[in-house]
Amino acid sequence: MDNFTFYNPTKLIFGKGQLETLPQEMEAYGKNVLLVYGGGSIKRSGLYDDVINTLHKAGATVTTELAGVEPNPRLSTVRKGVELCKENQIDFLLAVGGGSVIDCTKAIAAGAKYDGDVWDIVLKKQIATEALPFGTVLTLAATGSEMNAGSVITNWETNEKYGWGSPVTFPKFSILDPVNTFTVPKDHTVYGIVDMMSHVLEQYFHQTTNTPLQDRMCEAVLTTVMETAPKLLEDLESYEHRETILYNGTIALNGMLQMGYRGDWATHGIEHAVSAIYDIPHAGGLAILFPNWMEHVMGANLSRFKQLAVRVFGVQDNGSTDEEIALEGIRRLREFWSSLGAPTRLADYDIDDKNIDKMADHVMSQGAVGNFKSLSHEDVTSILKASL
Ligand code: NZQ
Ligand code: ZN
Repeated sequence: MDNFTFYNPTKLIFGKGQLETLPQEMEAYGKNVLLVYGGGSIKRSGLYDDVINTLHKAGATVTTELAGVEPNPRLSTVRKGVELCKENQIDFLLAVGGGSVIDCTKAIAAGAKYDGDVWDIVLKKQIATEALPFGTVLTLAATGSEMNAGSVITNWETNEKYGWGSPVTFPKFSILDPVNTFTVPKDHTVYGIVDMMSHVLEQYFHQTTNTPLQDRMCEAVLTTVMETAPKLLEDLESYEHRETILYNGTIALNGMLQMGYRGDWATHGIEHAVSAIYDIPHAGGLAILFPNWMEHVMGANLSRFKQLAVRVFGVQDNGSTDEEIALEGIRRLREFWSSLGAPTRLADYDIDDKNIDKMADHVMSQGAVGNFKSLSHEDVTSILKASL
C-alpha cells in the first residue's frame, strides 16, 4: 500500500423520508438559498414542491433559483449561477438532481468566492480555497458526486470537458432517498450502473502491491451491482433494488475504495473528450470505451485482469493462459453491459473517425494520462479507433 490520508466530511443521510431532516441540516447556514436543479424531472416527480415546502418550514428564503442545468453541465450555466450568488448575497446552495446538477453547484459555490473567471478553477490554473456551503438531494445513482469533491464541467464554446475538485467542494450533507430515484428512466438507470462499475474498475487497475482488502471491496461492489442491476431493470420502482444501487453508487466514488493506491482514470479522461464534442451521456461513452481500454493495456499487469475475470466474472482457471482468462473477463463485461442495453460502439451515437485527433489532443492536454499504464497520443488514438 502507499501512504494515505482519508478525508471526507460529507454527512450522508440515507433512506426513505430523509428529506425531513433538511430544516435541521440547514440550521447552521444562512437563510438565503440558491436552489439549483436540472431540466424539469424534479417538477414532474413532485420533489420540487416537497423541497420548497420543507425549505419554507426551515425558514429559508428561496428567492433565487437556477433551473435548466444541462446533463454534462456547461460553463455558461455555472457563470450564470455565480452571478446569481454574487447579486443576491446567497448564503447556501441546495442542489436537487443528478451528478450534473451537483457538479454545477460545486463550480458555482467555488466561483462565487473567486474574483476571476470560474473556468480558471476548472482548468486548475487556480485552486479553489474557499466555497459557499452547499448540500444536495440526489435523484440519480451514478456519479458519487454527492459524497466527493469532484466536479466535471464542459466549455461548449471550446469543446473541452474537465474534472476538478478541492477540499472545499465536498457537500456539507447529502440526502439520498431511494424513492427519489424511482422515476429515473431505464436508459439513465443503465448509464448510472455502468458509471458506478466504471468508477470501481478505474480504481481496481493500479500497480500498487498488497491491497487485498481494497481488491475485495472493489469486487464486492462490482458483484453486488451485477446481481442487482437486472432485477432493478425488471422493476424500476423496487425500493430494495433502488436502495442497493444508490448505496453502491456512493461507495464506488467517495474515496472508501481508493485508500492506499492511485487508480488509473484514463478512460474517464477519454470519455470526457468524446462527450465534450458529441454531448453523449457520460456512461454511454464509458460502456463503449472501457473494454477497449482494457484490451489495450492488459499487458501492463495481466494478473489483475486475471483476478477480475476469475473473482468477478466467474471465469474458470482450468488450464487456459492468463491472457485467455483476462480476455474472457473483458468479453463477459462487454456482454453484461450490452445485456442491460448499454451501447457498444461509438457508431451507436453516429460518431465516426472525423474528430479522433482532436479528441486525443484534448485528452493529452491534461498532462499524464493513466496511472496503471501511462498512455501516449498514439495509445489514445488506437483506443478511440477500436471503439468506432
Ligand atoms: O435534468 P433533469 O430534468 O433533472 O433530468 C436528468 C437528466 O436528463 C435525468 N434525471 C435525473 N434524476 C432523475 C432524472 N429523470 C427522472 N427522474 C429522476 N429522479 O437524468 C438525466 C441525466 O442526469 P445527469 O445528472 O446528467 O446524470 P449523472 O448523474 O450521470 O451525471 C453525469 C455528469 O456527471 C459527470 C459526468 O461527466 C456528467 O457530466 N461526472 C461527475 C463525477 C463526479 N463529480 O464525481 C464523476 C463521474 O465520473 C462523471 O464524470
Ligand atoms: Zn464516471
